Amino acid sequence: MEDQKSQSLTILYGTETGHAESIAHKMESEARSMGIDARRRNMADFDIDHFKEVQNLAVIVSTHGIGEPPIASERLFYKLESGPSFSLETIRYSVLALGDTEYALFCQAGKDFDLLLRKHGAQFIIPRVDCDVDFEWDAMNWIAEFLGAIKALS
Ligand SMILES: Cc1cc2nc3c(=O)[nH]c(=O)nc-3n(C[C@H](O)[C@H](O)[C@H](O)COP(=O)(O)O)c2cc1C
Repeated sequence: MEDQKSQSLTILYGTETGHAESIAHKMESEARSMGIDARRRNMADFDIDHFKEVQNLAVIVSTHGIGEPPIASERLFYKLESGPSFSLETIRYSVLALGDTEYALFCQAGKDFDLLLRKHGAQFIIPRVDCDVDFEWDAMNWIAEFLGAIKALS
């Protein structure tokens, strides 16, 4: 009975200037204070094989360049996009996308990660949220909603 097990959470962040990492930090602390087994992982050190250990997945990623993922997230992004076929069907996820509405390709990297995870069969637990430069309020609400949804599964 999977739904009666305690839930684990992987917080996977991709950042260039640190915002996504600081949100990931905050989410990890809040999750742990709620008794959720949460781990923060940088996309820079995360390979697709690591998805095998993931139950619930919170992706926090910014957009840089012209609608591109942060440089350190590109390797994972391209493996998801064009790597061998694999299934993420057992994973529940959501994406918090960081960006700036001044750019034409607003939050594009977060939108792309969302599509790629869905393409590989992952199930969204709450909808993606796209944040502008004043992201704090949206990010805190997304964290609360995500953790509440996980807690409801325990
Ligand atoms: C050089 C540069 C390029 C950017 N390009 C985009 C973009 O194409 N689309 C977008 O929505 N935001 C863009 N942004 C805004 C960042 O995504 C936003 O500042 C975000 O909060 C950064 O998060 P991070 O510190 O985790 O990298 C860009 C920012 C910089 C500095």
